[in-house]
Amino acid sequence: MSSVNTAIQLITREQAGNAVNAATRRAAAGTAGTCSPALAKGPWEYDLAEALAGAPAYGPGASNADRAPAATPRQGQLPEEYKLASDAELDVRIRAAKEKLGDRAVVLGHFYQRDEVIQYADFVGDSFQLANAALTRPDAEAIIFCGVHFMAETADILSTPDQAVILPNLAAGCSMADMADTDSVEECWEQLEEIFGTEKDDAGRVPVIPVTYMNSSAALKAFCGRNGGIVCTSSNAKLVLEWAFERGQRVLFFPDQHLGRNTAKAMGVPLEQMPMWNPRKELGGNDERALLDSRVILWHGFCSVHKRFNVGQIDKARAEFPGVNVIVHPECPMEVVDAADSAGSTDFIKKAIAAASEPTTFAIGTEINMVNRLAAEYPQHTIFCLDPVICPCSTMYRIHPGYLAWVLEELVEGRIVNRITVDDAVQDNAKIALERMLAARPL
Ligand code: 13P
Ligand code: SF4
Repeated sequence: MSSVNTAIQLITREQAGNAVNAATRRAAAGTAGTCSPALAKGPWEYDLAEALAGAPAYGPGASNADRAPAATPRQGQLPEEYKLASDAELDVRIRAAKEKLGDRAVVLGHFYQRDEVIQYADFVGDSFQLANAALTRPDAEAIIFCGVHFMAETADILSTPDQAVILPNLAAGCSMADMADTDSVEECWEQLEEIFGTEKDDAGRVPVIPVTYMNSSAALKAFCGRNGGIVCTSSNAKLVLEWAFERGQRVLFFPDQHLGRNTAKAMGVPLEQMPMWNPRKELGGNDERALLDSRVILWHGFCSVHKRFNVGQIDKARAEFPGVNVIVHPECPMEVVDAADSAGSTDFIKKAIAAASEPTTFAIGTEINMVNRLAAEYPQHTIFCLDPVICPCSTMYRIHPGYLAWVLEELVEGRIVNRITVDDAVQDNAKIALERMLAARPL
């Protein structure tokens, strides 16, 4: 199978009416096109577009329509030589730079990265595995994180002060993480404290525990650290909620409403006790009674990649492939998770496929680069994405071999570019919340 990147370029050429031969047509077959013809361009085109517009944007792909906050980091202009270099030239340059740097640099690649980048990664994994991978290389001076901003921040928090964490394109953020900003969460917290007070109940539980998904800024992780809260990932959300319910009467969960709802529902929390907090509305859009009765207050955030999955796609897969095994990520809406055979983190999906001993058809609800890579890795199975349209995560897509070549060659010259640093005060509190997660066990 050709990479998602190549398929996008073939499809968009065809959509633009350019001649494509039968072989390239076959390579792009089996999809219903892309969600944006702009995906075929180099990500540097969006760095430039943002500079000209004077405002950040997520770029083409699933988060295209989400509004990026004004403070979203932007990428300066990539030197021309990297934009103009062919894939083959970039390949030679990246390999040569890595060879020269040796153990001084380690390249991490998230499951959702394009194959053109993943081929250079020393470690490939989910956000949590990659944060841990960074810890296994304390001697590396530079950690080049081919993922998104919150992941690089977490690596900076967990790595030693001498290590530099580098994000090859600073515009690789996360639209979901941006849906909860510190000011809005602080405001929400103040209002909740006014309603609930701060007294513990007879069981010694505080009124509310803040829980942030790993997909959030370091500042929000620090907020949780300061306020008796904790971080979770999609692989340990249940364990973390158990930890929180031991210590609190209820939970404020941000930024992903779907992960919060799906996890709490599976633990038996009724939907009526999960009001949603919309930061643009008075009391988050709730009355006091609903908040007092709540067990989990869900922030109004979502992932635009996983919001694309729907029950109709699952019904279609079941009709076309009787016996298909449908596995989705818990960032999908509740009705999608309910209609699937199982739901779990990227690592859960990978392990479920690896564990299948008989040839099986899998329909997967997560980012397309990961699904296509699994399909190539396990040719004995039929593996496809529930969404027939190729629509990658916009921000993961902003990383390209051109940026990787640039940051590596700069390192060879002794220069660190695109360093992600979390300031000390934020770091200390964020680390408290992350360490609570690492130590979390039911009492
Ligand atoms: P993981 O934590 O499974 O790596 O997922 C990150 C992510 O962004 C999912 O959308
Ligand atoms: Fe963020 Fe969704 Fe992309 Fe993950 S897939 S980085 S949650 S926008």
